Formats: sequence, structure tokens, C-alpha cells
Amino acid sequence: MEKTALLLLVLGGLRSVVEALDNGLALKPTMGWLHWERFMCNTDCDNDPDNCISERLYMQMADVMVKEGWKEAGYEYVCIDDCWPSHQRDAEGRLQADPQRFPGGIKKLADYVHSKGLKLGIYADVGQTTCARYPGSLGYYETDAQTFADWDVDLLKFDGCFLNWTLLGEGYINMSKALNKTGKSILYSCEWPLYEWPFNRPNYTAIRETCNHWRNYVDVSDSWSSIRTILDWTSSHQDIIVPAAGPGGWNDPDMLVIGNFGLSHDQQESQMALWAIMAAPLLMSNDLRDICPRSKALLQNKHIIAINQDPLGTQGYRTAKSNNFEVWEKPLSNNSLAVAVMNLQDIGGPQKFPVVVIPGWKICDPRCTVTQILPQYKEMGVQTKQSDIALSVNPTGTTLLTITPIKGNFRRAHKLFWKNESVKRDQTNTL
Ligand SMILES: *[C@@H]1O[C@H](CO)[C@@H](O)[C@H](O)[C@H]1NC(C)=O
Ligand SMILES: *[C@@H]1O[C@H](CO)[C@@H](O)[C@H](O)[C@H]1NC(C)=O
Ligand SMILES: *[C@@H]1O[C@H](CO)[C@@H](O)[C@H](O)[C@H]1NC(C)=O
Ligand SMILES: *[C@@H]1O[C@H](CO)[C@@H](O)[C@H](O)[C@H]1NC(C)=O
Repeated sequence: MEKTALLLLVLGGLRSVVEALDNGLALKPTMGWLHWERFMCNTDCDNDPDNCISERLYMQMADVMVKEGWKEAGYEYVCIDDCWPSHQRDAEGRLQADPQRFPGGIKKLADYVHSKGLKLGIYADVGQTTCARYPGSLGYYETDAQTFADWDVDLLKFDGCFLNWTLLGEGYINMSKALNKTGKSILYSCEWPLYEWPFNRPNYTAIRETCNHWRNYVDVSDSWSSIRTILDWTSSHQDIIVPAAGPGGWNDPDMLVIGNFGLSHDQQESQMALWAIMAAPLLMSNDLRDICPRSKALLQNKHIIAINQDPLGTQGYRTAKSNNFEVWEKPLSNNSLAVAVMNLQDIGGPQKFPVVVIPGWKICDPRCTVTQILPQYKEMGVQTKQSDIALSVNPTGTTLLTITPIKGNFRRAHKLFWKNESVKRDQTNTL
């Protein structure tokens, strides 16, 4: 009896004790598309009309998202990043879209995106100017929040350039209040901790109360070293950031760059698997009008998306590492566990990894069912804690599994799994 109570306490302590921003949004990690990594600040519509930041780009993405199964897979938000506005505010001090590139204006674009059953995201900045030197929102938070609400925008990405870091907290909180005051629920994506970390340890209690997701670390780029750096940052700060994640508020490791130029297919699988484990927002930045079928199938893989969107809403974390491998695990509803085994060696061929050394494999005492999700879907049937099987993991690739304790042994399995559970577990599990 006392043991059960203790267990519940431990579980309760692990789940987000912290209140999330109460706007009814982001109860699961946000899914959609965001222009930045792929299209950046391309404003040259005369010479590059297909790739410049213009209303056409978002309308075409919205069209493809509906036609090509993206919407059905769960990708919902079509998001504008920097470089959309005019360099001047209008006579009433409101932001306005660049008239050449957005002749219809943002309200019309939102209506178009909504007519497709999708949602529109926009971008602004907490400081003097945006990172690309368009007008910032400092001094205009209420005006800008009301403008976005009037335009029927559904998400705001609020960047953190050009503000003294000592004002970041009040700036982000003021905008959160301004959005609330409009009466329209607008998903609020922040970069507060990213800009605060160089000076000070951010207050994740306050951040979770203020934002629906928050960037912690540098922008992703189209390379494996960028993905590795983001994962390394995340695992080395997991004690601080993982407990802050849960329904209503998520850590945001930045965009999925799958379907671009810089990642091999194995590396694309690693990004998809690990972003699912991290309960990360799945915001693709790629050209959906022209994407290779394998990347498309990976991004639309319903088993991986289900891990990301699992209703328990717990962020996974790294549980073991060696020179060549990392193991990351995410508790799922139904007492299951998602496990990613990543081979960090970028030379040679596939490496064998024995399943019995996966920390969470203890839920297989006495038995469990195992399903491999990546690299191929494969039901591996009933296993035991002594199962003598090894995964074969490609260099820089990831094998993704789900493990479910056999029904009837739930109590024991659950207890075993959670017994040593702590985000600190990593340190005691060097392979
Ligand atoms: C504004 O905040 C209150 C209190 O947290 C909340 O109940 C309400 O739903 C919020 N409204 C919007 C539009 O976010
Ligand atoms: C930021 O604000 C603090 C506190 O007001 C001030 O001491 C500091 O000089 C400011 N930094 C810059 C770069 O303006
Ligand atoms: C936030 O709002 C408070 C109260 O209105 C104000 O005093 C403060 O200057 C604002 N901070 C920023 C950064 O806008
Ligand atoms: C962090 O923010 C919370 C909620 O806003 C506040 O109650 C708490 O005092 C803050 N913690 C620190 C160390 O400033």
C-alpha cells in the first residue's frame, strides 16, 4: 500500500507539475510546416518566384498538404517565418504584409488556408526588430496581438532578437497576456530560453506558464552535425528541460529538415525517430511540392507520428550511451515504451546492438511484445528479459522500437520500469 502511494508520488513528480499556458492549444506537439530552414529570407520574387517568401508559397504548400496526404497524416499548421512584413508599420502603427509579395494581405491568406482545413502561423519578434531587421514588436505587443487576431491567424512564432536579455521574460509574458486579451486562442511559440541561456538559467516554470512551445538551442541547419549538436545539447540538459514538457507546452528542438539536401536517408530516420522520442513539435521545413518518396513516407509514417503524439505527453530522454551508441526512451500510454537505438559511428557498416542492454528492456520481465518501427516495420513478437536478439543499426541511423509488457504482468512490469526512473538515469547507464 505504501509502496503504491510512493510510486504514484514518483510518477506525479515526473509528470509536469508545472501549469501549462491555459489557451486550450498544443495538447499534443504541434504538427505543420514552417518556411525558415528551406526558404530563409528569400524576397526576390522577380527572379525566383517559386521560392520567394510570398503568399503563393504558403498557398501552394497548403494545396499540397491537402492533396498529398500531409493533412491526413496530422500536419496542420502552415507557418510563415521572418521576412513577410513591410519595412514600415501602417499609419495606425500596425504591422502590414509586404504589398508586392502578399498582395491579398494576411487575412485573405488565412481565409485561404482555413478553406483547406488547415491553420496559419505567423512570425514576429519580442525586440526592436526581427532577426532579419523587419519591424519588431517591442512597444507594440497589444497592437500586434490584436492585428494577428483580426487576421484570424492561429499561431505566432515570437523570436527573441534585439532585446536586452534582462527584458526577455517580461517581453514574452507581456505578449502572452496580449494574445490572451484578444480572446482568440493563438498558439504561442517562443524562443525565450534560447536567448536567455547564454546569460542565465531560464525559469522553465515561468516559460511553461507563458508559451505553448519554446526553442532552447540554436537553429537547425541541413546537416547531420546540426542534428547531432541539437541532440547533444538536449541530452546534456535533459534534467532541466524534460520535466517542463507535457500537454500544453513542449521543448522545441527546431524544424525537421527531412526531404532536403544534407541528410542521408539513415540520418533522416534518426531525426524523425528522435524528434518523436523528444515529443517535439513536428514542423517540417522542406519543399513539399518536390520531395523524394522515401522522405515523404518517413514524414508520414503513422507509427512514428503516434509515438510523437502519444496522449501521455511525456518527453523521452537519453537513457544510455557508449562511444558508438545512444539509447533514448519515451514512456507511452498503455505502459509501453518507445526506444530509439542510434548508431553514432560514421564509418563502416551496420553494427549489432543486443536488446537486453536497453535500460527499459526490464519491462520484458517476464515477457513483452516488441514492434520494430524503423528502419522497417516488423512485429518481433513475444520476447523475454533474456532474449538473445541483436538489432542491426546502420552508421548514423536509428532503430526505433515499441515495447509493451504482456498484459497480466502489468503491475510488476510497471513497477520495475519506474523503479529507478529519473531523468538522471542516463549517468548510471553507460553501456
Ligand atoms: C486567457 O487566460 C485565461 C486564464 O488562464 C483562460 O482561462 C482563457 O481560456 C484564456 N483565453 C485565451 C483566448 O487564451
Ligand atoms: C541590459 O540591461 C541591464 C539592466 O538594465 C543593463 O545593466 C545592461 O547594461 C543592459 N545591456 C545592454 C547591452 O544594453
Ligand atoms: C511589460 O508590461 C509591464 C506592465 O505593463 C511594463 O511595465 C513593462 O515595461 C513591459 N515590458 C516590456 C518588455 O514590454
Ligand atoms: C520561476 O517562475 C515561477 C512562476 O512564474 C515563480 O513562481 C518562481 O518564483 C520563479 N523562480 C525563480 C527561481 O525565479
